[in-house]
Amino acid sequence: MNKIIPYGKQNITNEDIDAVEQTLRSDFLTQGPEIIAFEKEFAKYIGVKYAVAVSNGTAALHLCAIALNVKSGQKVITTPITFAASANCVKYCGGEIVFADIDPKTYLLDINAVRKLLEESPKETYCGIIPVDFAGRTVNMENFKKLADEYNLWIIEDACHAPGGYFLDRKGDQQFCGNGQFADLAIFSFHPVKHIACGEGGMITTNYKDLYERLLRLRTHGITRDTEQFINDKQWAVGNTNEKVTQYPGWYMEMQELGYNYRLTDFQASLGISQLKRASEGLVRRREIAEKYNDAFQDKSYIIGQSGNIEGHAYHLYVIEVENRLGLYNYLRSKNIFTQVHYIPTHLMPYYQQQGHKIGNFPNAEKYYSQCLSLPMYPTLTIEEQDFVIQSINDFYNE
Ligand SMILES: Cc1ncc(COP(=O)(O)O)c(C=O)c1O
Repeated sequence: MNKIIPYGKQNITNEDIDAVEQTLRSDFLTQGPEIIAFEKEFAKYIGVKYAVAVSNGTAALHLCAIALNVKSGQKVITTPITFAASANCVKYCGGEIVFADIDPKTYLLDINAVRKLLEESPKETYCGIIPVDFAGRTVNMENFKKLADEYNLWIIEDACHAPGGYFLDRKGDQQFCGNGQFADLAIFSFHPVKHIACGEGGMITTNYKDLYERLLRLRTHGITRDTEQFINDKQWAVGNTNEKVTQYPGWYMEMQELGYNYRLTDFQASLGISQLKRASEGLVRRREIAEKYNDAFQDKSYIIGQSGNIEGHAYHLYVIEVENRLGLYNYLRSKNIFTQVHYIPTHLMPYYQQQGHKIGNFPNAEKYYSQCLSLPMYPTLTIEEQDFVIQSINDFYNE
């Protein structure tokens, strides 16, 4: 029997291991120079001014929701075809999630469905939108920005699936996901199946200095050590003493608002930096794999839909839509090909159903869910393995 071919897999090289080992032997295990270097390198890769490394993508979303002041009762729109964290971050802050259906061709949040929601509600009903670059296909953020501006909404781009992905703007220029040209904030995850693996890890990107500075504080308990930002005066900072004070003492720091411990460690950052060096190369390979799937399936009657060969797609996932999906899933599993389903629509999770969301609310998302399957997609997938996956799918429908 062949070895298991999963739908996604990390690739850890000797260079990665050396980079982590070097940091483990250094003076810093957390919040040292590797974090700063990772943030800098990542910002450069994405083409954005600021990046804040955090402990995972969910923490990134949570901090974004806090930084944008999501409060009890406020409503935010997102897609049901995403990992639950895209919606949960609003709930953490007491806000309300409103879903809008997907576009059945792109599998992304349908801007027309969002527009309809906005048009049908009093102007101040919503405060933000969280579009998701699902599977690695970049949302046209320029269009979303235009709509958001009409209604005075902020945008958090959930770009967990798409570092290096882009869309073409109206002028035909490449707009890389998370570059902050349109969204206020964007977030990434470094979970092992993602393009860059840190074990756990996340990043927030933005072009706004004020949001950047607030996020730095929020990731570490709301604490700052920046003298420029201190609120209490210098004399108070040394305690109740007659000593004359000309500057804040070295130990001094201030907790200025309620934050969290969402820090990434320095050795995880070293892994991130090392992985980032291969991110472009990994993307090239992912696009090759996608092209081959696309070519193999485009004239097959049993393939109802597929991710396709799309410019700028980052191919975290390659999705096919098929009839008899459960049968195919089980057949492939019997051949040690472990496909996956992304995603069970978030509005149908029991937690969200308890909040009033119902089956039938989002027909495109629900139809997609009934027939989608994510095929093996990772840079180290070999030509033989991919041929075997394609052949096995064809065999299932032809037997
Ligand atoms: C679209 C999306 N958003 C958010 C997350 C959360 O990221 P993490 O697992 O790093 O918390 C994920 C990760 O699975 C994701 O796929």
